[in-house]
Amino acid sequence: MKIKKVIKSNISNVDFKNLNFGSVFSDHMFSCSYKNGEWTNAEIKPYQPIRISPSARVFHYGQACFEGMKAFKDKKNKIWLFRPKDNYKRIVKSSERLAMPCISEKLFIDALKILINLDKDWVKPGLGNSLYIRPFIFADEPSINATEADEYKFMIICAPAKSYYSGDVKVKFENSFSRAAKGGVGYAKAAGNYAAQFYPTKLSREQGFQQIIWTDSNNHEYIEEAGTMNLFFRIGNKLLTAPTSDSILDGITRKSLIEIANKEEIDVEVRPIKVDEIINASKKGELKEIFGSGTAVVVLPIVGFGYKNKIYDLPKTDDSFASYFKKKLNDIQYNISNDCYGWRFEV
Ligand code: COI
Repeated sequence: MKIKKVIKSNISNVDFKNLNFGSVFSDHMFSCSYKNGEWTNAEIKPYQPIRISPSARVFHYGQACFEGMKAFKDKKNKIWLFRPKDNYKRIVKSSERLAMPCISEKLFIDALKILINLDKDWVKPGLGNSLYIRPFIFADEPSINATEADEYKFMIICAPAKSYYSGDVKVKFENSFSRAAKGGVGYAKAAGNYAAQFYPTKLSREQGFQQIIWTDSNNHEYIEEAGTMNLFFRIGNKLLTAPTSDSILDGITRKSLIEIANKEEIDVEVRPIKVDEIINASKKGELKEIFGSGTAVVVLPIVGFGYKNKIYDLPKTDDSFASYFKKKLNDIQYNISNDCYGWRFEV
């Protein structure tokens, strides 16, 4: 792999205490091209704009997918990724669904290791600090023919991160727009899945909500996910989460929480959840918590939700499952506790 380092790092210009998620990037980026049926020209170079034709298919037909991962620094300055091979498997699934060529696991892991080691000073130690890593693949072939491309780029960029949302998060149960439908691309990390959420999410922000809880596209009867995160509901001492499907992303944090719950003997049910069930539980005072899970948000408590012009507040609880799971997860990610699951991956 060709490596060209920056002459002078930009790190001293960054205010690490006040990071806006995803707006500052580390010194280097990885890039490689797919041409004539193979991935070539793997290189790491200073983070910089790229040259791309205005007719590149990605601009016209949205042929692009991505991943989200984080690197964590422990007290001995060792750097760890969390389940990177699961991210690899998912980018392969996303690529297949979008008729894009797969990258090899070796290329994916080697690129991550070399890039993160080069930018290791950008991974700050301390709970809450991480380096958010964004691998992505897009069709850069110059042609507006509406078929899958023959040429692509696979790139990785990294952004130092703190929390994704600042302040309390309220969500709206959506009963008009849809994020994904049966047989569609909802399970893939397709760029277009996110673009399609922006307009309804903008409307919900105007009503005071930070995110939407998407429901099934047939009748808006069953809960799906929240776009930037999967969802967990605590009714009494039981946790509920929807099963993954072709319209729900198979979140790596989500499945980690399910595994932790099973190991710690917390009652967790993975089954279709009706919106009505959550509304009724809330009315009866049995709905104790809702929280989201995802790489960027980690485990995010929701303070209240809206449904059909009504607001439902969630109670404050001292024994929150969200805090419990966040700690269990963070302890593994930052190499504080023993990792009996084999999730930590040294860079
Ligand atoms: C992630 O959690 O990594 C995601 O991909 C969500 C994102 C769009 C910020």
